[in-house]
Amino acid sequence: MTSRPLTRRHLMGAGLAVAGGVALGAGVTSVVAATGDCPVAATFGADLVQFRGPHQPGIETPAPAHTWFVGLDLAASADRAAARRLMRVWTDDIERLMGGIPVLADQEKELVAEPSRLTVTLALGPAFFDRLHLDGRRPPSLRPLPSFAIDRLDARWRQTDLLLQVGADDVLAVSHAVRVLTRDARSIVDPVWVQRGFSRARGAAPPGTTPRNLMGQVDGTVNPAPGSDDLRQVVWASEGPSWWRGGTMMVLRRIRMELDSWEKVARADRELVIGRRIADGAPLSGETERDPVDLEARGPEGLLVIPEFAHVRHAKAQTDDERMLRRGFSYDDTGDPSAGDAGLLFCAFVADVDRQFLPVQRRLVGPDLLNRWTTPVGSGVYAVPPGCEPGATLCTALLDPG
Ligand code: HEM
Repeated sequence: MTSRPLTRRHLMGAGLAVAGGVALGAGVTSVVAATGDCPVAATFGADLVQFRGPHQPGIETPAPAHTWFVGLDLAASADRAAARRLMRVWTDDIERLMGGIPVLADQEKELVAEPSRLTVTLALGPAFFDRLHLDGRRPPSLRPLPSFAIDRLDARWRQTDLLLQVGADDVLAVSHAVRVLTRDARSIVDPVWVQRGFSRARGAAPPGTTPRNLMGQVDGTVNPAPGSDDLRQVVWASEGPSWWRGGTMMVLRRIRMELDSWEKVARADRELVIGRRIADGAPLSGETERDPVDLEARGPEGLLVIPEFAHVRHAKAQTDDERMLRRGFSYDDTGDPSAGDAGLLFCAFVADVDRQFLPVQRRLVGPDLLNRWTTPVGSGVYAVPPGCEPGATLCTALLDPG
């Protein structure tokens, strides 16, 4: 991530004045509201994430405060030439939006000035390959997920032909990017749904803190670290069709939380359901959040410390092949009578869905007691193309003839 220096304009624009540059720690400066003595953090609107590179942004990038998933279908008339046009427009739009530069003919130039670590990630569903006769170029594990006994899927959140994941620390940047990208794609793709997710607001907790989900649990502890060899192996495709190497697969599950009944469960029992403490996310077999989960540990009466029904017992990878990068976001649409629920937009990135995701999901269906308070209501699987090197256009190697 690159950071542009704070300018006078940024501070003045926010109605703020620097209070003598009081040092708070490395690189942190106290900024005080002009009309009062309440200290607020330095603004982050000018922070940028790099668009160009071997992988698309929004995967290894730290999770932003807001992420919207936009599902789209190809219009009836769309063919491969139209898809190529779309990729040219989107590549240009995304590069500009992420760089804080207005897109061509943008009426609302001011809305792009503070991208706040905006990222846009493009993903392609199975029907994209069917519709454009690209079957020979399909990543091997790109097919609809099997149905699971726990699923109560609502057609409203169905699989789509394409998906855009748009994230930033400022929801205004996300909203405007979604508006621009869907408007510029009109006549080639039509939006089907938008699923709006959130994590912690930037600055609410120290950087690197694992977020909490709406059940109150620390969620995301066991995950490959950004920039690690581990993440490279788990996420980025090194096999499969050549156009896709450096890409990945995304599984998106909209999982409703049954919060009314969950809130009636005693705190100690809630900890047993997951196998971790609520206060700090430490495994029940350990002391601190990062301690390894010990599934064999027994208490004084000989009982398993992490019970047979605990989520982590069944979710934990049984082989190196079963690892995944989870990058979930909470959603809360309880005010919307037509959607009316809250839960987790569970998002996982893996190089191979069959090898890495499905064995874990299959195991979770039966014995995981968490299923009593969670219900999958939406599901989709997508191929994420590799990134754009300088001068390149998204999906060129996929869509070009030959
Ligand atoms: C609303 C549904 C879910 C909730 C609330 C939930 C919550 C949690 C929590 C609190 C943890 C422990 C902390 C951590 O390591 O992140 C965890 C771990 C994990 N979950 Fe879930 N989870 C959900 C669904 C899923 C699904 C659908 C999968 C995959 C199919 C999954 C896979 C995992 C994995 C792989 C771990 C790490 C296990 C380990 O190695 O210790 N979870 N989950």
